[in-house]
Amino acid sequence: CIAHHYTFTVREVPYTKLCSTKAILTVNSQFPGPIIKVHKGDTIYVNVQNRASENITMHWHGVEQPRNPWSDGPEYITQCPIRPGSDFLYKVIFSIEDTTVWWHAHSSWTRATVHGLIFVYPRPPQILPFPKADHEVPIILGEWWKRDVREVVEEFVRTGGAPNVSDALTINGHPGFLYPCSKSDTFHLTVEKGKTYRIRMVNAAMNLPLFFAIANHSLTVVSADGHYIKPIKATYITISPGETLDMLLHADQDPERTYYMAARAYQSGNIDFNNSTTIGILSYTSSCKAKTSSFSGYYPTLPFYNDTSAAFGFFTKIKCLFSGQVPVQISRRIITTVSINLRMCPQNSCEGPNGSRLAASMNNISFVTPSHVDILKAYYYHIKGVYGTRFPEFPPLIFNFTAENQPLFLETPRLATEVKVIEFGQVVELVIQGTSLVGGGLDHPMHLHGFSFYVVGVGFGNYNISEEDPSSRYNLYDPPYKNTMTVPRNGWIAIRFVADNPGVWFMHCHLDRHQTWGMNVVFIVKNGREPNQQILPPPDDLPPCYE
Ligand code: C2O
Ligand code: CU
Repeated sequence: CIAHHYTFTVREVPYTKLCSTKAILTVNSQFPGPIIKVHKGDTIYVNVQNRASENITMHWHGVEQPRNPWSDGPEYITQCPIRPGSDFLYKVIFSIEDTTVWWHAHSSWTRATVHGLIFVYPRPPQILPFPKADHEVPIILGEWWKRDVREVVEEFVRTGGAPNVSDALTINGHPGFLYPCSKSDTFHLTVEKGKTYRIRMVNAAMNLPLFFAIANHSLTVVSADGHYIKPIKATYITISPGETLDMLLHADQDPERTYYMAARAYQSGNIDFNNSTTIGILSYTSSCKAKTSSFSGYYPTLPFYNDTSAAFGFFTKIKCLFSGQVPVQISRRIITTVSINLRMCPQNSCEGPNGSRLAASMNNISFVTPSHVDILKAYYYHIKGVYGTRFPEFPPLIFNFTAENQPLFLETPRLATEVKVIEFGQVVELVIQGTSLVGGGLDHPMHLHGFSFYVVGVGFGNYNISEEDPSSRYNLYDPPYKNTMTVPRNGWIAIRFVADNPGVWFMHCHLDRHQTWGMNVVFIVKNGREPNQQILPPPDDLPPCYE
């Protein structure tokens, strides 16, 4: 069951959901896409063949890819797109990942349907730090639009407004029976009494953190973002786009009953969002009655959609399994805001508030993705004029980040492609501060490519910039080790990583509308002195940048 070579053929295939049919991008005609299975430390090759009508790239989310940014995937950051009719062979190098990560397309919003899980197994004689389950259950939470996702993106980018909210949430691609025409399009998990199931879950939704629970069954969460954690017994979980969780489900309830699992949005800000619920069915094999014909079963209880303390009550329970690994001395502290902004439009002609255009920024720079050559190639081959190196290390103005009614000029970000250059081996502490410039603030699941980081601090309100030693209030003992962490609404997180992976690494909000609006930055980690501290040579089939 473990292969080291995969072929991913990307093509458009018609799918029918919610009473309507459209062509979606798929890998090997599957939605959700195929599961990749590896042992810890494996290197695999995935030949991505683009047989669709739009550009594609592939990203291995949570895979650090030591020294190998060439295969990381974000479009115009580490590669130019694979054009229709072309191929690219990705070399995916696993190193420290232990459990579940995932892969997804990384070009515009193509990841909406182009995604799948990656199961990592220990390499013998390594063993799991938790009891082995009898079965594994992949669960991908997602979002579905009846319209072509390309049109949804094209429209909100053109008008400057917010994107249309999705029409359904999904479990493994199934909306579930609460939605129209979806009675038979419901995820169904059959379990055997007494057995243990390991759920490997990702939130692949485009724009929504989610709550998830299963009626009458508690979940023992044993891993987050590909790393082991101290087990958490939970009656519900919160999972942001980009995050993965592994959890054990014990089939220990009355086998004659039916139990529903459900996911719905956690949404902190006052914006339009999909507030519907996706349902899956859990039933037991020994049950003799028909299970799907009558929908009388137990429903789980989920927190209210804007319950921030419930959301962070779960997030802050996560602690890494192995204590004492956190770098205590840092080389530098970088402080960045993450904001939603407005840009004025001629004659107030856009569809954002007061005729503005919505934007997003980090330290008041709204990131502009290059459109002809990627940043990695520009860096490696010294091509001038593609990016600048002046991403500020502190917010340009020290102000009360979370106060309402900020001066309007703070709402107008600079459009630029500015990167942050880091010396090899530096220990970076990055503080990410949410602001309430527009819309009163919102949670932002921030994802860093190329690294896992320790989340040493999470707080509400303003990070205290003037404090002499903020680390006295950090958890430097057993903080979560993650690649995606949610910055609370009008709050902050502090993360630490050692810049020991040379390359060009994207960091962005994993809510795709914010990424599209520019809530992104790029870190360039320079080569170290030793040969094994340097970027690997580029593959020779890299997609060309100029037509
Ligand atoms: Cu899961 Cu840059 O992405
Ligand atoms: Cu965001």
